[in-house]
Amino acid sequence: MINIALDGPAGSGKSTVAKTISKKLDILYLDTGAMYRACGLKCLNEGVDVKDAENVEKVIKDIDLKIYYKDGAQVTCLDGKDVSTDIRKPEVSMLASTVSAHRSVRLKMVEMQREIASSTDCVLDGRDIGSYVLPNAKYKFYVTADSKVRAERRYKELIERGEKVDFDALHQEIIQRDYNDSHRDFAPLVQAEDAILVDTSYMTVEEVVDKIISYIKEG
Ligand code: DC
Repeated sequence: MINIALDGPAGSGKSTVAKTISKKLDILYLDTGAMYRACGLKCLNEGVDVKDAENVEKVIKDIDLKIYYKDGAQVTCLDGKDVSTDIRKPEVSMLASTVSAHRSVRLKMVEMQREIASSTDCVLDGRDIGSYVLPNAKYKFYVTADSKVRAERRYKELIERGEKVDFDALHQEIIQRDYNDSHRDFAPLVQAEDAILVDTSYMTVEEVVDKIISYIKEG
C-alpha cells in the first residue's frame, strides 16, 4: 500500500498539491481537514459549544459522516447531506480547529482515516498524518509557508469564491489556528522526525508537486 502523508499548517498549499499528486499518480486523495470541518459544522448545527468536551463527545460519538468520491473529487456527507461547500466557510475553519483538539473527536476521525488508508493507495493531507495517524507511511512531507503568504493564498481563494473577507482578520485567524493546532495536547501539528520539509513560500504549485514526486520516484 502506498501512503503519502502531507502535513502542514493552514494555507500551506498542501491540499492543492495533494490533489495534483493524487491525479498524477492515479491514487486517492483524502482531505482529513474536511472531516474535522464536518465535526465543527455538526456542533454548530446541534447548537453545541465546540469547547464543551462532554457535549462534543456526545454529538460526535454517533456522527453520520461519510466520505465518498465522485469523478475523483472527495464528497463530504453529513447527516445525509453533501456539505462539501458549507464546510469551506471561513467561520467553520476555527470551529474545526477547536473541535479537533478533543481526544474523543480525533480518535473517531483517526479510526476512519486509518481504515481508508489501509485499503487504498492514497495521499492524505492533514496535521498529524505522518506523526500520529500513519507513522509508518512510506512517504512523509511537511509542507509549510510564511503565514502572510498563506493568508494571501486563502484570501484569493475566498474572494474568487465570492466570500467577503478582511485580509488582516484572515491573517490573524491563520496565526491563531497555527497556534491552536500546534499546541493541543493530543496529536498536535508537528513535523514528523522523518518528514521532508518543503517550504512553498516562493514556489509554484508545479514546483512543489515536481519536488515531491521526484522524492517519491527516488524511493
Ligand atoms: O486543513 P484544514 O484547514 O481544512 O483543517 C481544518 C482544521 O482541522 C485545522 O485547523 C485543524 C484540524 N485538522 C486536524 O486537527 N488534523 C488533521 N489531520 C486535519 C485537520
